[in-house]
Amino acid sequence: MSFFGYKKGDMHAEGVALKTIAAQVGTPFYCYSAGALRAAMGEFNRGMKGMNASVHYALKANPSLAVIKLFAEMGAGADIVSEGEMMRALAAGVPARKIIYSGVGKKATELMAALQAGVGQINVESAAELETLNAVAGQLGKRADITIRVNPDVDARTHAKITTGKKGNKFGIDIDLARAAFAEAGKLPHLRIVGVAMHIGSQLTTLAPYAKSLKKVGKFIAQLRADGHKIDRFDVGGGLGIVYKKEKPPSIADFLAVVKKETKGLDCELSFEPGRRLVGEAGVLVSEVILVKPGASKTFVIVDAAMNDLIRPTLYEAWHDIMPVRQPRPDAATIRCDIVGPICESGDYLAQNRDLPRLSAGDLIMVRSAGAYGAAMASTYNSRPLVPEVMVDGTRFAVTRPRPSIEDMLSVERIPQWMKNGEKT
Ligand code: LLP
Repeated sequence: MSFFGYKKGDMHAEGVALKTIAAQVGTPFYCYSAGALRAAMGEFNRGMKGMNASVHYALKANPSLAVIKLFAEMGAGADIVSEGEMMRALAAGVPARKIIYSGVGKKATELMAALQAGVGQINVESAAELETLNAVAGQLGKRADITIRVNPDVDARTHAKITTGKKGNKFGIDIDLARAAFAEAGKLPHLRIVGVAMHIGSQLTTLAPYAKSLKKVGKFIAQLRADGHKIDRFDVGGGLGIVYKKEKPPSIADFLAVVKKETKGLDCELSFEPGRRLVGEAGVLVSEVILVKPGASKTFVIVDAAMNDLIRPTLYEAWHDIMPVRQPRPDAATIRCDIVGPICESGDYLAQNRDLPRLSAGDLIMVRSAGAYGAAMASTYNSRPLVPEVMVDGTRFAVTRPRPSIEDMLSVERIPQWMKNGEKT
């Protein structure tokens, strides 16, 4: 079921017309459908019935408190990669014990904050981090529950910048070296090994790389047990892809079936860390056309959202569907255009070479599948305020993060006193 669609000629998020939100909130804005978020999480929950498994929502995909809270209320824990994300998870009501702390470079101060808060599991990614965590836990008189993330050296067949499970990626410990890391961890008094973690990449649209990695890591778990380690948990990571263009990503049920099959007999509690799959298709970016500029070879549609608001097209050559908010007539002629922002960079585009119905100043467009790594990766480049976020639930909507005013943005800055005194520099 789609939670975004035309009704009486106007694009709606569930029961709310996007133009209604635009009139109230201004453009650009991100809009999330609570129904779509619930549907995705519900699919995981249904599929996991009877499995010893849990979802830890990867906050990095969309760290909005309202989104985290919605998932937490459906039983999700959180996968975090910074102290900031930890504070968000806690503020949204995720119990500390349901938080998994991932990441390749955690600082001692961050590890200390995590242990003080009672975070349930820390996924360690290097021998150096084992030492640091052991020291920090020792200082606090605690024992940290850890997994070690192994890098299974499997090609996830996704974009190079979001592949994480190949030799040569900075993530995890090479599966051929990980046995020594476990041996080392076993000797450290303030660590308790509880399992093994992996995460092979993001936007995976086939299950074969998962099956291959699960097999490899499954064998490795058997070896670790033979070495005398107690391995109770297997953190499988996230990565399940969504539809941006015409991809056919596996269903959550099929994904879970593969995991079930490949981990059969392992007798491990499983954790999943989905991010994109839970939020990606549940969010859109709505923007207004500022002006249309015909060029010699193509037309530029200049809109008020830009690469600072959604960097994925620029950074990963990602495709996001663009749809007019006002439904075009079925026989409407199209023109070849680039949808670009106002930023002073040629890389500032949301879409290139699209055939779209003729757009004019003041028209609204919707950028699809923008719920994951959209607002999350936004910046204020060109002194553009962060785009507000709105959640729709049925016929209700609420602004979950307002647009900061320019004054808000300036108010956090300081002029050095010597400049204020008028001293010569
Ligand atoms: N767990 C770990 C350890 C991760 O590194 C990631 C994502 C996830 C879970 C969640 O992965 P997901 O289910 O969302 O694929 N900015 C990029 C994606 C970066 C993903 C980084 N790691 C993009 O816009 O495509």
